[in-house]
Amino acid sequence: MCGIIGYVGTKKCTPALIDGLKKLEYRGYDSAGIAVVQDGQIVRVRAVGKVAELEKAVAQDKPQGTCGIGHTRWATHGKPSEENSHPHTDCSGEIVVVHNGIIENYLTLKEKLQTLGHKFQSETDTEVIAHLIEENLKHTRSGSHEQRLFRAVMKTSAELHGAFAYGVMWAKTPRQIIGVKNQSPLVVGLGKNENFLASDVPAFLKYTSKVLFLEDGQTAVLTPDGVKLYGMDGQETKVKTTKISWDEKTAEKGGYKHFMLKEIYEQPQGLEDTLRTAREDFGRILGLKTTDLRNIKNVYLVACGTAYHAAMIGKYYLENFAGVTASVDLASEFKYRTIPPAENTLCIAVSQSGETADTLGAVKKAKELGFKRLAICNVLGSGLTRACNSVFFTHCGPEISVASTKAFTSQIISLYALAIFLGHASGNISQKVFNKLYKELMAVPKAVADTLKIEYDVRHLTKKIYKSDRFIFLGRNVDYPIALEGALKLKEISYVSAEGFAAGEIKHGPISIIDKGTPVLILMPKNLLFDKMLSACAECRARGAFVIALTTPDGKEEAAAVSDKQIIVPQASEYLQPVLDIVALQFFAYWVAKRLGRDIDQPRNLAKSVTVE
Ligand code: M6R
Repeated sequence: MCGIIGYVGTKKCTPALIDGLKKLEYRGYDSAGIAVVQDGQIVRVRAVGKVAELEKAVAQDKPQGTCGIGHTRWATHGKPSEENSHPHTDCSGEIVVVHNGIIENYLTLKEKLQTLGHKFQSETDTEVIAHLIEENLKHTRSGSHEQRLFRAVMKTSAELHGAFAYGVMWAKTPRQIIGVKNQSPLVVGLGKNENFLASDVPAFLKYTSKVLFLEDGQTAVLTPDGVKLYGMDGQETKVKTTKISWDEKTAEKGGYKHFMLKEIYEQPQGLEDTLRTAREDFGRILGLKTTDLRNIKNVYLVACGTAYHAAMIGKYYLENFAGVTASVDLASEFKYRTIPPAENTLCIAVSQSGETADTLGAVKKAKELGFKRLAICNVLGSGLTRACNSVFFTHCGPEISVASTKAFTSQIISLYALAIFLGHASGNISQKVFNKLYKELMAVPKAVADTLKIEYDVRHLTKKIYKSDRFIFLGRNVDYPIALEGALKLKEISYVSAEGFAAGEIKHGPISIIDKGTPVLILMPKNLLFDKMLSACAECRARGAFVIALTTPDGKEEAAAVSDKQIIVPQASEYLQPVLDIVALQFFAYWVAKRLGRDIDQPRNLAKSVTVE
């Protein structure tokens, strides 16, 4: 994600930059930095760690000036380090850039710039922007410095591919900041004799509530006297401002009551960002000698909690698409059971944080057994990414709520992508089948966006049953782990007993806990197993359960005949349906907990990352 802040005005800018970065820390916190124009030169202060570390460094260096930009980083390219922290500069050190997003063609641009003599200091994709502007400035010699910078920035933006937002400052234009938005958020705050650029409103809400939300393809030029807005064609467009009525706390959550709800709604974007790099990243990973994935015969998936449920789904994917034998272990169990040594074995560790002690322990054991190790992880530079031979990053951005939502769906689609790329590379699936599966995968972000529309229905449904002291979730095949995840989500934030079962198993014991009125959520999208799920509904209803059928439009009528309520989610292909189904259960857990008045983002007894065994 990353957070951008910029200030241009008549006051000293450092306090506003630090304030802004603190408010944006939820977007990333592995390093932070600021750059200020001071006496015609750029002064840059950067620090690894949270904004508090930067604040200490700033207190020593005290950069003075009335125009500056800052950044808090969530690493995507290059480990968390001072060299990789933003702002990044060109060769002269006069142009500084802060950026959020991913420049997909950065390697091509970097090579081109290197042949032109540019020297790079970091591993980031961001640094190419600064050098490209420097290069383009050489070809824009007429006009004022301000006009030249504007033209160079416009030319640079046209050469960048990907989703990005960035802010630029030049030592020769000490009263100007330029901001560019393309598919990553960027807003402008309009004050009196001062203006702000930021990734999100809370960054400057303390100073102004008059906001301009940039559209994709727009460039904003900020000076102390005002803000001008330009389209991709370089033509000036009208500035439309909005008055924000949120308080600071609400603004931090983007207007949502809780981070959990915000993160549920961020899923389409998180999925799109994760998929954006999948083809290239898996191509690289599959080509690596260190993992030699094409010859892999056995896979052990290890993970904890929600990530474990994603890993369970990954087993279905790997066996079905890649044709490899896969087993799933809770990381805490894998560490202590006997695992026979075997050649051509891969251990896949799935983790949002990359710091879960049990998962790290399992990977350590996999290494001792001589297994190759692949991490599917959301945090660059985390312990797990260092302990594995290769890493695929889920780009869903920092997850703040203890209850994991967007990390889960991004883990599922990463495993799906891995399985189909692997299956294709090993010849297990044909080009034609691969194309079909890939197309279906690419359609998931939009389908999840459509699924978000069910929040109102789910919210309404929970009104009748939120006081129940026991909930049951049933699923089959790839929806079995979703039943487990639905139950985990509910229990961790509502503190009530919730259990998930494989639907075929209830008659072997669990059915005895069903009482009159027990809510049973049955996952029954219209697919091959639909008829079996109709039987499960009937069995539970016969014992007095309050049956809620989660189905797809084609299953609605039949489901209505055997259930008390229905939740209708869009239809996806059989193997991708879980990604849509879980959205309904995330809302379900959220609304039960909300009605019970629980502390949703920080539920009792739980930590976001469990770093002890
Ligand atoms: O950071 P990790 O993905 O390794 O964390 C694993 C579990 O601790 C985590 O998924 C936990 O179960 C969440 N609170 C679930 O919402």
